[in-house]
Amino acid sequence: MSSGGPVPQEFSVAVVGGGIIGLSIAWRLAQSGWTVAIFDKCAAGGEASWAGAGMLAPGGEFEEVSRLTELAIESRREYQPFVRELEAESDTAIDFGECGALDLAFSGEELKALDERARGQSAIGIHSKALELSQVYAFWPRIRRDTLAGARFYPDDAVVNPRDVVYALKIACRKRGVRIAEHCGVQRLAISENSVTIETEEGSAEYRAVVVAAGAWSSQLAVGGVPDLPSARPVKGQLIGYRQPAGTCATIVRHGSFYFLQRANGLMIAGASVEHSGFNREIRPTITEQLAKQAGLVFPHLDETTPSEVWVGFRPGGEELQIRSWHSPRLYLAYGHYRNGILLAPVTAKAITTELNANLQKP
Ligand code: GLY
Repeated sequence: MSSGGPVPQEFSVAVVGGGIIGLSIAWRLAQSGWTVAIFDKCAAGGEASWAGAGMLAPGGEFEEVSRLTELAIESRREYQPFVRELEAESDTAIDFGECGALDLAFSGEELKALDERARGQSAIGIHSKALELSQVYAFWPRIRRDTLAGARFYPDDAVVNPRDVVYALKIACRKRGVRIAEHCGVQRLAISENSVTIETEEGSAEYRAVVVAAGAWSSQLAVGGVPDLPSARPVKGQLIGYRQPAGTCATIVRHGSFYFLQRANGLMIAGASVEHSGFNREIRPTITEQLAKQAGLVFPHLDETTPSEVWVGFRPGGEELQIRSWHSPRLYLAYGHYRNGILLAPVTAKAITTELNANLQKP
């Protein structure tokens, strides 16, 4: 589907991809004085940013020192000011909670593994503490008790509703003059010494710089004038949701690779599969069953409950995280965030804006 509208002209920077990463970058660039146009082949924010559960949880995702871990911890620290600033600029509310996360062990072996992992994490700045079972029973009354062996609490993990963030970013971007061209897929980028040409089905336009932030689709772009882009690929996640009374799951709850969280609107989410099956949007009943089984294992009252919602999304996987210029001061890459695109949006936007500002003069 095409917007039928003209390709945005007379903007300085083009952002390809209108998910949470592209929108955050566009917002920060516009705040720093650039005129920005976003291109999205569908509806902005309609893919991974729409599907993501919204865990801001280094405690559940990282256990080794790496640049990615450092960025994740930094972005987690920056999330509250990011959300507050965005709420103020967009005049909308964002469901964001610094609720922490509970990791559960249902056997002695699982508990040993939790404790070992926590020891390694504390050395890299991710803190947690062991809880008494009585504390778990008191604060998480819905959690299964009969086979619970132990638990750890990660106070710094948090949750956000990514759909709220995207909605607010769209408003904040538009208020700052960002043009969001939806249903306007970019077919080709031509990078030259002094400009970038963007070609779409609707026509072409010139910009001073371009940012590629198209998630799992990023390396499908044809780009001339620079070496091929590092590869991106989709990693499908299937999730389920239950409508539950507020407070059913007041923090993130994790068991092994499964996680649970509840939005302010009551939706309790259980996730997620990790599937390497290309851009296949099929909802697999076996995955729904696995997720529902885990939900029932951790929250026995869900044992006989049918999920009210099931959906899939494509995590932006790839060779590695790209937050950098690519062989030209006119081309920037912001993709490969894999499981942490929602979390890493603030630091990604800051880093791209800083590098672009250092490389190019505003007109
Ligand atoms: N960030 C959790 C996931 O990708 O499933």
